[in-house]
Parts: sequence; structure tokens; C-alpha cells
Amino acid sequence: MKHFSLEEIAGWDRFYRANFINSLSGFKPVSLISTKSKEGINNLAIFSNIVHIGADPALVGFINRPIDAAPHTIQNIEQIGYYTINHIHPSFVAAAHQTSAKYDVGISEFEKVGLHAEYKVDFYAPFVMESKVQYALELAEIIPIKRNNTFLVIGELKHVFIDQEIIANDGLINLSKVDSMVSLGIDGYCLTSPVARFQYAKPDKDLGIIDL
Ligand SMILES: Cc1cc2nc3c(=O)[nH]c(=O)nc-3n(C[C@H](O)[C@H](O)[C@H](O)COP(=O)(O)O)c2cc1C
Repeated sequence: MKHFSLEEIAGWDRFYRANFINSLSGFKPVSLISTKSKEGINNLAIFSNIVHIGADPALVGFINRPIDAAPHTIQNIEQIGYYTINHIHPSFVAAAHQTSAKYDVGISEFEKVGLHAEYKVDFYAPFVMESKVQYALELAEIIPIKRNNTFLVIGELKHVFIDQEIIANDGLINLSKVDSMVSLGIDGYCLTSPVARFQYAKPDKDLGIIDL
């Protein structure tokens, strides 16, 4: 394998370096985060740095870039406290990517890219109607990361919408069945294919296999 030192990486063109470093940590759970401003304007943006933080309470986090680079989602979340996360499927992946463009604050990306806002369960922020996996969160905490002026935004789960058929008997959501996409780097999108599922691992015990 070729060795890349930090000195070499630091000397690369910034776009080459961004592509390389963004893909290094692996495939990411790309989704659309939907918010509504206090003025009542819907905002939609694509995010891939989304992470499960804990199951009880159910917490999901995402990394927001520095405010100048990505201002609207985090501002709406800070002011309103509610937002939804919506999985992306191949039928609207190009529209989802287009939400990363820097639209003015008064413009709703829903209208610009042709996706539909869906209001339900009296939740303040809209869901993305085209998405087959939608969940709603209430802001729990915003943690500034000093090293690069980014933010870890943590939300507590309030509602989930998914077809019952893709949920296994033990609760696992089989996202491959609805073609939920993953992203690679900053502009690549992929589908997944299941390989294996194993029983809880214990020292000195053979692994049992579970259907996936
Ligand atoms: C595939 C992909 C993944 C992205 N992931 C993130 C992310 O995790 N965090 C982030 O702050 N911006 C991310 N972006 C950039 C935002 O989508 C972009 O800055 C957007 O304009 C932010 O919109 P907002 O100002 O309405 O929040 C991503 C863009 C693409 C194309």
C-alpha cells in the first residue's frame, strides 16, 4: 500500500484533500434535514455527518460546518428547537444534492429542488414527503467544537415514520429494502447490499448468524 504522511496530505490542492479526507472515514448515512424558521419559511439541506449517540434516551447527532458555510439549518434549530431527518432514495438523489447550494434565507429549498413538505402529528418542522424513513427530533444540546468552529447538534427522538414491513421481528430496520442511500466523500452516493448479521459476541463462544 502507498503511505501518505500528514506532510504530504497538507501540501495537496484543497479540493483534492477534501475529497480524500471526506471519504477516508467511510460511507455515511446521508439524509435531508428539514426545519422551519420563526418567519415560517421551510429550509431543507443535505447532511451526511449524522451519528447515533444513544438509544435510551434516543439521541441522534449531526455535525454542522462553521456558521458562515452552513447557517440556516442550525439557526432554525437553535431558534425553534424542532427538526426532521429524512432518508434519501435514488428517485430524488439529484434533488437532495441540489439542497447543498447556498440559497438565500428567504427561499425554501423544497420549492427550488421540487421536493414536497409534509406536515403531520402537529410537528412544527415539515417532513420530506418523498422519503420512506422520516424521524423528528427536539434539540437537546449544541456543542461547539473549538478546533475547527464546527458544531455537534444533538436531538432527542420524538416521532418515527417507516413502513412496518421493513422492521425485523427484533426491531432492526432493514434500510436496504427501501434503498436508503449512503454517501461517499462530499458528492458520491451509493446503495448498500446486506452481507451478514451476527448474534451478540461473547468471548470463547461461536458466533451465531441471524437472517438479514
Ligand atoms: C453529500 C453532502 C453532505 C453534506 N454533509 C454536511 C454535513 O454533514 N454538515 C454540514 O454542515 N454540511 C454538510 N453539507 C453541506 C450543506 O448541505 C450545505 O452547506 C447547505 O447549504 C447547508 O444549508 P443551510 O445553510 O440551509 O443549513 C453536505 C453537502 C453534501 C453535498
